[in-house]
Amino acid sequence: MQADAPQTVHLADYTAPNWWVEKVELAFDLHPTATRVRSKIRFKRNPDAAGRDLHLDGENLSLITLAVDGKPLTNNEYRKADTSLTVPGDTLPQDAFTWEAEVEINPEANTALEGLYMSNGMFCTQCEAEGFRKITSYPDRPDVMAPFEVRINSDLPVLLSNGNHAERGNGMSVWSDPWPKPAYLFALVAGDLVAISDRFTTRSGRDVALNIWVRRGDEGKCAFAMDALKRSMRWDEEVYGREYDLDIFNIVAVDDFNMGAMENKGLNIFNSSAVLASPETSTDDNFARIEAIIAHEYFHNWTGNRITCRDWFQLCLKEGLTVFRDQQFSGDTRGAAVERIGNVLSLRARQFREDAGPLAHPVRPESFVEINNFYTATVYEKGAEIIGMLKRLVGDDAYYKACDLYFSRHDGDAATIEDWLKVFEDTTGRDLTGFKRWYTQAGTPRVTVTDSFKDGTYQIDFEQVTPPTPGQPDKEPQLIPMAMGLINPDGSEARPTQVVELTEARQSLRFDGLDARPIPSLLRGFSAPVILDHSPGFNDRATLLAHDTDPFVRWEAGRALTRQTVMAMLTDRAAPDPAYLDALHMAAANDTLDPAFRALVLSLPSQDDIAQGCVDAGVVPDPTAIHHALKALGRSIGDHMEGLFTTLYDRLASDAPYRPDAAQSGKRALRNMALRRLTPRDEATRARAQFDTATNMTDQLAAFACLLEAGDPQVAAQFEAQWHGDRLVMDKWFMLQVAQAEPKDAVSRAEILTEHPDFTMKNPNRFRAVMGGLTGGNPAGFHDPSGAGYRFLATWLIRLDAANPQTAARLSTAFETWKRYDADRQTLMRTELERILDTDGLSRDLAEMTSRMLEG
Ligand code: PHE
Ligand code: ZN
Repeated sequence: MQADAPQTVHLADYTAPNWWVEKVELAFDLHPTATRVRSKIRFKRNPDAAGRDLHLDGENLSLITLAVDGKPLTNNEYRKADTSLTVPGDTLPQDAFTWEAEVEINPEANTALEGLYMSNGMFCTQCEAEGFRKITSYPDRPDVMAPFEVRINSDLPVLLSNGNHAERGNGMSVWSDPWPKPAYLFALVAGDLVAISDRFTTRSGRDVALNIWVRRGDEGKCAFAMDALKRSMRWDEEVYGREYDLDIFNIVAVDDFNMGAMENKGLNIFNSSAVLASPETSTDDNFARIEAIIAHEYFHNWTGNRITCRDWFQLCLKEGLTVFRDQQFSGDTRGAAVERIGNVLSLRARQFREDAGPLAHPVRPESFVEINNFYTATVYEKGAEIIGMLKRLVGDDAYYKACDLYFSRHDGDAATIEDWLKVFEDTTGRDLTGFKRWYTQAGTPRVTVTDSFKDGTYQIDFEQVTPPTPGQPDKEPQLIPMAMGLINPDGSEARPTQVVELTEARQSLRFDGLDARPIPSLLRGFSAPVILDHSPGFNDRATLLAHDTDPFVRWEAGRALTRQTVMAMLTDRAAPDPAYLDALHMAAANDTLDPAFRALVLSLPSQDDIAQGCVDAGVVPDPTAIHHALKALGRSIGDHMEGLFTTLYDRLASDAPYRPDAAQSGKRALRNMALRRLTPRDEATRARAQFDTATNMTDQLAAFACLLEAGDPQVAAQFEAQWHGDRLVMDKWFMLQVAQAEPKDAVSRAEILTEHPDFTMKNPNRFRAVMGGLTGGNPAGFHDPSGAGYRFLATWLIRLDAANPQTAARLSTAFETWKRYDADRQTLMRTELERILDTDGLSRDLAEMTSRMLEG
């Protein structure tokens, strides 16, 4: 038997702990290979619990001393297993006691980047979800909340932890966090760091010191993040009435980090890619992402920290809500329509894909083996869609009233989805039992629409079906808020937006008194995360694209025409319909529309999106054919609109100083779309000129991508010569070379790059750049019929897994669509999944992922 046979954890098994924690004191003697951690924890009996045993978690700890109320524990007074330590209740005092322990840990050996680890000579921590147990023995579960006091002993100049700075001296610092928090929000940073600093005064007059801590040399890349932080703080006061609650707010940039960033109380730790930015080194998309992540982590202070999750099954309670809040913020900051379309694109690309495959799971899962595997698009993004639906159903006023009630009723709590829904029920008097299905039922509902028109009456019929998902063969109907309007054939609005609540498997709706058959404008604002199965004719879609009052539906109509065109190219070898190209041209040439929106209308669906479209149409996707079809369509669009693209390219050129705001970014997006379409027609002369003269990374990278695609033999070396000193820019270099390679060369390009001296498995960003460049950036290359892409990925996942299971498991989702493909590819992918699963010493993370993919 394996030493550590993976256990499945079930939501239904939740029980409160036997002991609560009243106070935690920690003292660290930092050392790269031998850090000493002393803990002093005041435990208090939970009178509602049946048992009295003390259960502590612990992993990779060398225990030095343990004591209860000052009395050392002898070996027979506790039971130690690989990942736990139990003290039987009958050896413990009745109601309360003080636990003291000293342990030793080895940060340098910690390549999993969970717990206390080293990154470029600096100490840092990552404790969510279950990393604190690698620092000291503790009840590492989110419902145990306590104030922390942390003493750090080290010669390093900057020593940080959560809360307010209580004391500082020679080689030491003490931090005190008055707000009770679970251990997953603990953080510690120590290093030779520099800060850019600012201040913020909250609306009740609290003066807050703000710092962004970075490695020397990165100081010049913090201004944007600092500004985004201050805007987030103000926004949360204005929109949600939420104020910051400490005297200091620290952000630290770390190069080696598994995720985007982490909301540790008062001490957010960021992947440097999610905070550092300058016009020369960062694209407009990078700026937008940084702004969203800064906001996201800051907003967690209330949705996640002050109110946390009772257990990890409730993860969406903090993540869905916080994503929704950061999306609101970005919409307010950058324009709601374009933001919404971007969010829907990402939801479909990641969450719909997940929901349609073997890894599908409810937004609130019922069981897991490794919780790190559930930081998914479903929990985050579908979780956010649920909040959006709730807001639409109850209306804005009730929504913010319910949120206020949530904040006042549950401040300091470890809460559940039931608690969250209850504040809405109490505010509105509405029974939300049916709505709760969004949390418990996996799979994307498919809504089929048919309609008829007779004697001035328009009837529309909806039928909803949610397909089976692993463990959930039968589904109930969902409460789907369908925002819809009606458009007249001339493009004017016949009926304004109304929200129809679909609750039954079949439902119909009638509109009387219409002069002509209207065009339905459905799922306005993408009011629910569903797949709409509706096939209006070409003219109806063209009318919606040209005239609908809802920008999402307008974009969606164009996108549907494009998908239809690609599908016809694939299945009937049809050339793009000139009428389609004209409709697209009209939208692209419409100067009354936001350039960012026009760029989105001109963008093509991803290869993965078309592959899913094939599956929906009952066709086995051929990745190579999809690649060629999309490329051919891009050329046709370029041919058809050469004049417009030439004009746009010239007219949108700008000498204005770079600003990463929505207005300028939108213009650059449209201009760079024009560049892309013109490159095959002008022998890449514009791209070459733009690459050589660009003064910002957005323009340089767009030109770089065009030149790589055009097969320019020098550009990769030129880019490297210019940027080899900048890690974040070099990640783009690694990624784009694989993504833009001819599919047949993509795997060998990726292989060559893994031999580059700057390639390293230790840095998740760099590893992801190469692997993601292949799996996400070059699907036709990844799915090369030889199976070389599958072998390459599996080999590297097995290697990475031994060092960093969490990131290996995440990247394994490249295989989650394996059942979509032809029998040969399925066999090749299954073989690789089995090879991974058969590996000796495979992590729980990757074992769970591969077995779910094989079984699902
Ligand atoms: N809680 C973090 C966020 O959503 C994500 C995260 C999870 C980071 C686990 C690290 C580890 O912002
Ligand atoms: Zn989050």
